[in-house]
Amino acid sequence: MTTILVLHGPNLNALGRRDRHHYGTLTLADINRRIEERAASLGVEVECFQSNHEGALIDHLQGCAGRIDGVVINAGALTHYGLSLKDALTDTGVPVVEVHLSNIHARESWRRHSVLADTARGQIAGLGWRGYTAALEALAGIIDDEAAEQAN
Ligand code: DQA
Repeated sequence: MTTILVLHGPNLNALGRRDRHHYGTLTLADINRRIEERAASLGVEVECFQSNHEGALIDHLQGCAGRIDGVVINAGALTHYGLSLKDALTDTGVPVVEVHLSNIHARESWRRHSVLADTARGQIAGLGWRGYTAALEALAGIIDDEAAEQAN
């Protein structure tokens, strides 16, 4: 079965309390529940992990090597400068989709640049929690397509 890792970076554990205008009212547990429900309906396995520490996110990614088929990531502010995290994502060799709850392109100028963007197959920003379920669906489809191409 396809296994997708969903990684949440710094401060996303505080969702529901932090800046509701940009990030909505759902907690991370609420969002993870919606992700798990969508995964069940897509017939994929999903694992969710959050850390406020870049090294812990990297350790987790390395620990999943060879076991996961794709990554959905909202790296929080590490999006804008987390080069070690970017390298670790590249090293997995699996497709990555970047998600942001807010529209980072309509906010402060420092948020508009993502160092992860060219590592990812695509980016979804500004759709709130729905960005995660859309990313999961897209990624599951990409993984399926690529497995079928390799089998041919
Ligand atoms: C965020 C956007 C980042 O700029 C910010 O640092 C976050 C959340 C988002 O989901 O919109 O922590 O990744």
